[in-house]
Amino acid sequence: MQDKSFVAFKPEEVGALSQKTLVATHNLHETSLFSDESLIKLLDNHNRDCLYAHTMGEDPENPSEWYNGTTDKLTGEELLTAVKRGKLWLNIVKIGDFHPQYKELLDEMYEQIEAQAEHFRSIRRSYTLLISSPKSMVFYHADPYDVFLWQLRGKKRVYVYPFEETFAPTKSMERIFTREAIEDLPYSLDFDEHAEVLDLNPGQMVSWAQNSPHRVVNLEDVNISITSNHYTDSALRREFVYSANRYFKRLGIPASSTATKGLLADSKIFAFRALRKLNIHALEPYNYKKTFVVDPQAPQGFRFLSNP
Ligand SMILES: [Fe+2]
Repeated sequence: MQDKSFVAFKPEEVGALSQKTLVATHNLHETSLFSDESLIKLLDNHNRDCLYAHTMGEDPENPSEWYNGTTDKLTGEELLTAVKRGKLWLNIVKIGDFHPQYKELLDEMYEQIEAQAEHFRSIRRSYTLLISSPKSMVFYHADPYDVFLWQLRGKKRVYVYPFEETFAPTKSMERIFTREAIEDLPYSLDFDEHAEVLDLNPGQMVSWAQNSPHRVVNLEDVNISITSNHYTDSALRREFVYSANRYFKRLGIPASSTATKGLLADSKIFAFRALRKLNIHALEPYNYKKTFVVDPQAPQGFRFLSNP
């Protein structure tokens, strides 16, 4: 591992962080923390309740072919073998909670970013390691928080779409902010005419305008990446306003403005936080059903438990 880790945005661009798609350079991929040996160790020492295994179909317009699986008795080495030979996408969430050396490194990256971007202050950070097969993909979606995607090994194509009603309808976004849905955005291939398309190589990190819809396709080799999630004050305000609108509408109170500044927004945020504290707003959160088991011996690296 080299002495000094770094991440750097172009000084003339960094003022637009969280408002535009920006690519930064970093050297996280040069540390030994993402070698096969280190990844196996991490997988063997990670809480399996915080590891989500997925496989998927071929058609980016059909998100119903996104499947959740189990990895229960497999070792880290078996999991890595299955990903390398098959079509799998592992989301290893909360790595900062279980592996202090990864947390330390990523916290240091955030400190450097905050030093470069005066307007950017992050809270509620969470780090997810992605280990994914060549040619696998993640369907079109938007996240409720801000995201940085750090590429460490392999190559990814990232499509980023505008945060506008056509691409991120308010009704769907409300359900994403309240965690009732995770993949609820309608998508068609012709959206791609409006996408920014970037090929992400090891040593690059991409960030985009807050909550922009995106999809990701692995190009070659096994891909190792980190997604770091965080909130800024502005991200938090948008989540509160959209969530408040959703709850108020359910109570029969009209609420449609998505403005995050001004007296109306302040009042909605205040009321929503009070309601949340009383816990009387509960909505049904999204639930995963497991339909396959990871199997390093199977040609695709998994077996369906029954016909999906
Ligand atoms: Fe995402």
